[in-house]
Amino acid sequence: MSFRSVFIAVTVAFGLILGAFLVNRARPRVETQQPTSDFVLASGKCAECHARLQYSVVHEYEMSAHARKGVNCLDCHQPGPGQKKMDHHGFVIATHLTAGNCRSCHEGIYQEFLRSRHAAPSWAAIYGEKGLSPEQVAFSEQYQPGGTKRPPHPFVTAEGSSAMASGCEQCHSIGKPNDDGTIGTCTECHARHTSSVALARLPSTCAQCHMGPDHSQIEIYNESRHGVMFAAQRDLLKLDANPKTLTTRDMFVPTCATCHMSGINGLKVTHDPSERLGWYLADAISTRRPNSLQAQTNMKQVCEQCHTSAQIDRVYAQADQVVASTNAKVQAAKNIMDGLHKDGILTGPPFSNPIDFTYFDLWHYDGRTSKHGAFMGGADFVQWHGNYGLLQKTVELQHDADELRRAHAARR
Ligand code: HEC
Ligand code: HEC
Ligand code: HEC
Ligand code: HEC
Ligand code: HEC
Ligand code: HEC
Ligand code: HEC
Ligand code: HEC
Repeated sequence: MSFRSVFIAVTVAFGLILGAFLVNRARPRVETQQPTSDFVLASGKCAECHARLQYSVVHEYEMSAHARKGVNCLDCHQPGPGQKKMDHHGFVIATHLTAGNCRSCHEGIYQEFLRSRHAAPSWAAIYGEKGLSPEQVAFSEQYQPGGTKRPPHPFVTAEGSSAMASGCEQCHSIGKPNDDGTIGTCTECHARHTSSVALARLPSTCAQCHMGPDHSQIEIYNESRHGVMFAAQRDLLKLDANPKTLTTRDMFVPTCATCHMSGINGLKVTHDPSERLGWYLADAISTRRPNSLQAQTNMKQVCEQCHTSAQIDRVYAQADQVVASTNAKVQAAKNIMDGLHKDGILTGPPFSNPIDFTYFDLWHYDGRTSKHGAFMGGADFVQWHGNYGLLQKTVELQHDADELRRAHAARR
């Protein structure tokens, strides 16, 4: 043997040993720490292959509370009621997982989620009742009146199915009806394998969907004092603190989750953010929700874990004023549009005349943003992305409406 081939042989042997070591190291630590027979069978076997194939999947799982508590791969991946089964290397697994694979152990949370607008109403915002069973619609309507009983959005036909699938659905499928009869997915906020509350508490997690000119929540948060403090002090916060014992000592700066979902200082965690919301701010003209008073009390209770009630009442009083004034401005614009329809000047389908877009942008961008900014500390969004746009587009709308009326009169 030449020196060269000995060198190659030694290198290959070392490579194999190193390879074996790495594969072994990649196995879930729990496999050896908690060697119950069920657990080793499911997690160990699955991980044996998948740590090689998709290291990331197994590693994310290894870091989860599930792995620490002995919840194994098959606990989630086994077919739930109504799910398609697939034979898989000696196991039977489901091909597609849904909230149904979480509810077996988290039924209470699933029920709360079902009552929220993240469930059926999210889907109905695009497709209306289509795809939802009458029972699902009836259930959701009890908690979110008008949330699911409605027609599909005009953009479904105006923009076409590929825009829906790769656009709207990417955010709104958080409440998609599944083939197994359940609704939605839990993994948009917790991810599939980390199942992490730390992830769910990060503003960037909510910002996957809560962004852009029509619902600028992350932009507003980032410019608010809360967002600035979060950026500065993020490393000091205990983002992974146990939800059941979370206090303001763990999270002394609020994120989206703190205000809308967390149970801080003994308050209750909720998977229905509506429990703390008094207004329908996303609507063109905002009205109070049926449980407005209680809901605002619930939210103020969260604020008051860190602020005095006088300061919070001031914020709410000012923000209520912005809602009232935005409503008046949008109503004025709506009256112009209603007049054009009534007088037979606008007769086409929705979004067929440029003025439809001016009106839509007026309430859907500027109107919403001013209201969201007022409640969540975004002065720039109340003003330059909000009221300034309201003013500018009202002038534009009136001008275009006059033109349309002139053209209409000339044609007659
Ligand atoms: C003998 C090796 C092996 C074992 C054991 C194994 N898998 Fe797989 N698994 C694979 C391979 C190979 C694929 C296909 C991967 C690909 O397409 O790249 C796969 C695919 C998958 C998929 C994707 C299926 C799809 O069609 O989308 C899931 C989920 C999965 N495995 C979960 C599990 C779970 C859970 C276990 C344990 C209960 C397990 N696997 C055990 C080798 C294995
Ligand atoms: C907390 C529940 C849960 C546990 C525990 C879990 N998974 Fe998954 N896994 C999911 C979900 C949800 C999906 C997404 C399935 C889908 O696309 O419908 C998924 C997807 C996968 C995929 C496909 C990934 C891809 O991107 O193509 C593989 C492979 C997989 N899991 C393997 C495993 C293995 C191996 C384990 C254990 C080490 C495990 N899972 C533990 C919930 C879980
Ligand atoms: C076999 C039962 C089981 C299944 C299935 C299951 N979980 Fe869990 N889950 C648990 C247990 C047990 C805990 C730990 C509870 C504790 O520490 O108090 C837990 C904890 C959690 C936590 C809190 C983690 C933390 O850091 O405090 C989240 C989030 C979570 N699960 C999400 C999910 C999601 C999402 C799914 C479905 C994809 C799912 N679980 C499926 C049993 C399960
Ligand atoms: C980037 C993620 C994202 C995309 C893409 C998206 N939405 Fe939304 N949508 C949201 C969020 C987040 C809200 C909640 C806004 C709020 O409450 O302030 C929302 C709210 C809505 C609402 C108002 C709430 C309701 O239930 O009436 C409607 C209607 C709506 N979206 C329809 C659509 C349609 C139709 C499309 C595609 C043409 C679409 N959305 C695309 C994230 C998105
Ligand atoms: C909109 C984002 C979002 C969705 C969707 C979501 N969660 Fe959560 N979840 C959170 C947040 C945020 C927390 C942490 C609250 C806190 O700060 O204590 C949490 C906490 C949890 C916990 C720990 C609660 C406790 O009291 O220990 C579990 C378990 C859990 N979620 C399971 C689920 C399940 C199951 C689903 C689907 C039915 C789901 N989550 C859907 C955001 C979400
Ligand atoms: C996958 C996309 C997605 C993610 C991630 C997401 N949301 Fe949402 N959220 C939506 C959609 C879509 C709506 C609008 C539902 C509707 O009214 O039709 C919504 C609505 C809301 C509402 C208004 C509810 C109401 O009653 O009007 C709040 C508050 C909210 N989300 C908070 C959060 C928080 C906090 C997080 C992060 C912990 C989060 N969301 C993560 C998509 C998402
Ligand atoms: C300091 C607490 C706080 C923080 C942090 C916060 N919000 Fe809000 N949010 C509020 C309040 C207060 C309201 C208005 C309540 C009402 O209607 O009574 C609101 C309203 C909303 C709405 C409007 C729902 C509707 O009616 O259209 C959404 C959506 C929302 N927040 C999402 C988020 C997201 C996403 C984040 C993080 C990027 C966030 N919030 C950060 C307190 C907060
Ligand atoms: C977890 C703690 C926490 C919660 C909950 C919380 N805040 Fe804050 N807030 C802070 C911190 C920290 C600051 C920065 C204080 C400073 O400047 O020293 C702040 C600053 C503010 C400011 C800016 C004050 C100024 O002088 O500019 C307003 C306004 C405010 N919060 C309103 C609210 C409202 C309204 C709620 C509930 C909807 C709320 N906060 C919930 C911690 C919190």
